[in-house]
Amino acid sequence: MTKNMNLPAEAPADCDLCPRLVAYRSKNRLEHPGWFNGAVPSFGDEKARLLIVGLAPGVSGANKTGRPFTGDWAGDLLYDTIGKLGFSNDQYGAHPNDGLELKDAMITNAVRCVPPANKPVGAEVNNCRDYLAARIAALPNLRIILCLGKISHDSTCRALGMKVKDHPFGHGSEYNAPNGLIVVSSYHCSRYNTNTGRLTTEMFENVFSRAKELMEAVSA
Ligand code: URA
Repeated sequence: MTKNMNLPAEAPADCDLCPRLVAYRSKNRLEHPGWFNGAVPSFGDEKARLLIVGLAPGVSGANKTGRPFTGDWAGDLLYDTIGKLGFSNDQYGAHPNDGLELKDAMITNAVRCVPPANKPVGAEVNNCRDYLAARIAALPNLRIILCLGKISHDSTCRALGMKVKDHPFGHGSEYNAPNGLIVVSSYHCSRYNTNTGRLTTEMFENVFSRAKELMEAVSA
């Protein structure tokens, strides 16, 4: 599945694989010493059957709070949807001490460190892929991987040894993956996508409903 199965599922907070991201982190540490400013660890249930893969922490959201999507614009829709579908106790309060608990789900990012302008470059996505592969491999009950956006989809396919050209990203795309996993994808719940109407709440909820349906079907 991955070339380096010895890596842990979580990057060290001071991960130094990507010079540009390290420089950005140093700048943010100087400007905002009270922020988390490190590789943001995955969040959720270690027994999860559903893994949600985002893109990367937002600078004043997950990078500040230390929890994926927490305090980010995208987190409002994501955590609301997860709550509606029963994958959490629905206690999202946009800060890490809000009491939110995920149930049967975990959230991670394709890139664990905040990139400038929310845009990781290809080398950064590639550098972080072993952590994604290790995260996937460390979930014993995993059935469904739900990717948010094309970068997350492509990196997840590669982490699983699947050719991207044979498994193109699409909103609502579904692919069988090794080890009985299924990769489902959605447009990212970013401010841009939701403000432009490219992604509606209904579209997003439908993908999550489908992922849950597939999860129950393959678990039966
Ligand atoms: N925050 C995250 O943690 N990930 C994203 O993809 C977007 C916002």
